[in-house]
Amino acid sequence: MTQVASLVDSHGRVLRDLRVSITDRCNFRCLYCLPETEAAQNFYRGRWANLPHSEPIARKWQPKSKILSFEEIERSVRLAVSLGIQKVRLTGGEPLLRQNVDELVARIARIPGITDLAMTTNGFLFLEKGRALRDAGLRRISFSLDSLDRANFQKMTGRDALAEVLASIKLAQELGMNPVKVNAVVIRGINDHEIEALADYAREHDLAMRFIEFMPLDSARAWLKELVMPGKEILQRLQARHALSPAPRRNPSETAQRWVFPDGRGELGLISPVSEPFCGHCNRLRLTADGKLRTCLFSVVEHDLRSRLRNGASDEDLAAYLQSVVLQKEDRHHIGEPDFVSPERSMSCIGG
Ligand code: 5AD
Ligand code: SF4
Repeated sequence: MTQVASLVDSHGRVLRDLRVSITDRCNFRCLYCLPETEAAQNFYRGRWANLPHSEPIARKWQPKSKILSFEEIERSVRLAVSLGIQKVRLTGGEPLLRQNVDELVARIARIPGITDLAMTTNGFLFLEKGRALRDAGLRRISFSLDSLDRANFQKMTGRDALAEVLASIKLAQELGMNPVKVNAVVIRGINDHEIEALADYAREHDLAMRFIEFMPLDSARAWLKELVMPGKEILQRLQARHALSPAPRRNPSETAQRWVFPDGRGELGLISPVSEPFCGHCNRLRLTADGKLRTCLFSVVEHDLRSRLRNGASDEDLAAYLQSVVLQKEDRHHIGEPDFVSPERSMSCIGG
């Protein structure tokens, strides 16, 4: 069956991947997202001495009335799928904080035409909710895991929760949600010394590990280019220890360059949006928890789907609106260039 391709942007890119943030709240305070802990502030303060600093992003949780209901999310996803979306990823904030999240997963899993339904989570609540999520139809999951050292994990996430997250990863494997993905954002001077240990962990446990470059999406606007560890450098370090072979790209929109170990157990991936942008093949569209469409992580404009959902728009109206929004998708991001402007909201509101 050929899938419709009705979400095409002005650069000819066909959008197939929808990321839906289902809450803007989070129970962690990651240094690269919501750097509000004392540890985070000390880290950045040390590095920001004498540097100019734009105003932090005021973090305000949206009131419940502005957050899309399950019905509204389901309708939006259904429409997007009718226009050619095939992959759906639920994110946050922390998506497992949303009440009855398994019910939402079940609703989305029933939509015909979705070939891949996944979630990105910090894993803290997965021990409690994992089984229900799997039973509801969630097939794939990515965990955030930036450190294997208890104290460093706490410094990076604001929670002393390494043991819970490791147990969640194990549970996801036991539940058959393979390959389980694990994301580590690498920040120079914080966790770059753990790259090798994280790779060994992935190999030992047969996980798909992703090393991600730190992007300017934190709520304190504390990102500095010097803190980014380029993917190439990470790869050199890993190659010094392992005879890695490149894995072929499964499709041009894949964000990770993947590498495999000689014995085929575990997999490493490098996601390098800062040093090697992949915007030319981006096929992603984002919907925030409060019902705004974003055509890029770094968009400075958002498109108000919520008001249309709530003002009686027909499916035809909404489809036409989605198509008009997609036509405005930016050609690329401008990180590191003089004209770069950080988005008004941090990753916890946008959804990873
Ligand atoms: N840079 C890179 N990745 C980020 N994430 C959150 N904030 C950032 C950032 N500033 C990613 C993390 C997390 C996912 C939800 O989003 O990988 O796992
Ligand atoms: Fe929470 Fe995820 Fe942001 Fe960490 S990266 S603070 S877990 S939303």
